[in-house]
Amino acid sequence: MAPLDQNHPIAAVLAGVVDRFRVRRKLPALAPEERLDGKVALVTGGASGLGFATSVDLARRGARVLLADCRDLDRAHRRAVSLGVPTDRIEPLHVDLADLVSIGRVVKDLARGGARLDRLVLNAAIVPTRARSTPQGLDEMFVVNYLSSFVLVTRLLDEGVLPRDRPDGDVPRVVFVASEAHRWSEGLDLERLDRPRDGSPRRVLAWYGTYKLMLATFAWELARRLQVGGVPRVSVFALCPGAMRTNIARELPAPLRAPLHAVMRLLFQDPFVADEPVLHLACSRALEGHTAVYLHKMAPKDVDARAADASVGRALWEASETVIHARIPP
Ligand SMILES: NC(=O)c1ccc[n+]([C@@H]2O[C@H](COP(=O)([O-])OP(=O)(O)OC[C@H]3O[C@@H](n4cnc5c(N)ncnc54)[C@H](OP(=O)(O)O)[C@@H]3O)[C@@H](O)[C@H]2O)c1
Repeated sequence: MAPLDQNHPIAAVLAGVVDRFRVRRKLPALAPEERLDGKVALVTGGASGLGFATSVDLARRGARVLLADCRDLDRAHRRAVSLGVPTDRIEPLHVDLADLVSIGRVVKDLARGGARLDRLVLNAAIVPTRARSTPQGLDEMFVVNYLSSFVLVTRLLDEGVLPRDRPDGDVPRVVFVASEAHRWSEGLDLERLDRPRDGSPRRVLAWYGTYKLMLATFAWELARRLQVGGVPRVSVFALCPGAMRTNIARELPAPLRAPLHAVMRLLFQDPFVADEPVLHLACSRALEGHTAVYLHKMAPKDVDARAADASVGRALWEASETVIHARIPP
C-alpha cells in the first residue's frame, strides 16, 4: 500500500497524535518570577484557541494584552475576566487580518495613541475549505496565514510601535506561531506569490504547510534584519505548539468534523497546555540576547533549511513588498 501523503488530513492527524507522545521536553518550566509586569503584548487571533489561552496566560504573568481578532471580542473578554484576569489587563482590539487596509488603520491608531509593544504574538491562521477573496483581491488564506503578519510587523516597526531601541534596554520579542507542517511544503513560488490558490479541500493542508514555510522564512529574514553585530534589537522566535483541541477545522464538512473532534478531545492538547512554548518564548530570561530560536513544543530544533536560507528570505521579502505595493500604494 502506498504511504499516505503528509498533507493528507488523516496523515496530519496521525502525525499530531504521534507528536503528542514522541516529542520530549528539553526546557524547564518558566519560573514564577519570569513575568511581564508593566509590559504590553499584542496577540493576533486572540479570541479563540491558542491565541485566547496565550492572551490569558500572558495577562496572568502581568502583561497588558491587546487581544486582536475580528470576531467574538466581547465574548473573549468576558471569558478572560471569568477566568480571573483583571478587566484592564485584556483589551479587545478589532482588526481584520484578511484586509490589509484594516491592519494599516489599526497600526496608525496604535501609533497615534502612543502604544509601545514589548511582545507581539503572530498566531492567527485559517484552514478554509474553499478559496475566498479579500477586499484587496488576494486569497484569504494567503493573507491571514502569511501576508498579514508581514504587513503588521513591518508597519509596527515603521511606526515605532514595535520599537527597535527601548530606553529600558528590554528587547521586544516577536513570536511566530508556525507549525511542523512548514517542513512538508513542496516549496515557495516566489515569482507569483499572489497567484490564485486552487481552493480544492484536498489541497488545503498542502497550502497550509506552504504558508507556514513562508512565515518561518519571513521570521528568519526578520531576525537577520533586526540584529546589529549579532545582537538582536528585536528578538524573533517561532514555534509549533503541537496538535491542539481548537476550532481550527471549523470549516471541514460535518462528516469529517465529528470524528476529528472525537480524536481532538481524546488525544490532542488543551490550548492552555499547548501555549507553554509561546509563553516560554515571550517570557524566558534565558532567551535574552537570543534570536531565531524555534521550538517544537518544549524542544528547540532548527527550522527547515529552506526557511533559514538568507537568499530565499531576501527574495520572499521583496516579493511580499511587490504584492503589497501593487494592492495598496505606499
Ligand atoms: N490546532 C492545532 O492543532 C495546531 C497545530 C499546530 C499549529 N497551529 C497553529 O496555531 C495557531 C492558532 O490556531 P488555533 O488552533 O488556536 O485556531 P483557532 O481556534 O481557529 O484560532 C485562530 C484565531 O484566528 C482568528 N482569525 C481568523 N481569521 C481572522 C481574521 N481575518 N482577522 C483576525 N483574526 C482572525 C480566528 O477568529 P474566528 O474564530 O472568528 O475565525 C481565531 O480566533 C495557528 O497559527 C495554527 O496554524 C495549530
